[in-house]
Amino acid sequence: MNKSTIPADQRLAIGMLLDDHRSAKKHFKAFEQASSDDEKGQIAREVCMELTAHTQLEEELFYPFLRDVPGLEDMLDEAVVEHASAKDLIAQIQAMQPGDDLFDAKVTVLGEYINHHVGEEEGELFPKVIAKKVDMRELGERMKARKEELMAVATA
Ligand SMILES: [Fe+2]
Ligand SMILES: [Fe+2]
Repeated sequence: MNKSTIPADQRLAIGMLLDDHRSAKKHFKAFEQASSDDEKGQIAREVCMELTAHTQLEEELFYPFLRDVPGLEDMLDEAVVEHASAKDLIAQIQAMQPGDDLFDAKVTVLGEYINHHVGEEEGELFPKVIAKKVDMRELGERMKARKEELMAVATA
């Protein structure tokens, strides 16, 4: 999905989520190519932190806003379940050290989960939201402010 195809009144909200998805994808690719445990540990920490802020932003603001839009219930329920699996794996990874048994496997599987989930959001959920022409200007502003708070806490 390309930002330029998103209607102006939805671009801030959805564009922010697209940026996060791109960033996660980039981190997982870098992880695959990383050669040292130090590098892997650093990438894993970064991607876990970013995904935690991203899932929280969606769960606190984006998904609840969409609960009022008819026809999205099943997709939103699935998204919440997928987030729970991802968050569980993130917690496991954060409790480990790079080089531990299964560390690489857990990060790789997290990447696969995220890939699948992003595919559903960008392939199904976002296109439906766009088709329903939901005005998201106010939501976008709230998400932007919340994202800044979450990232400030995460990087403090
Ligand atoms: Fe997302
Ligand atoms: Fe999501």
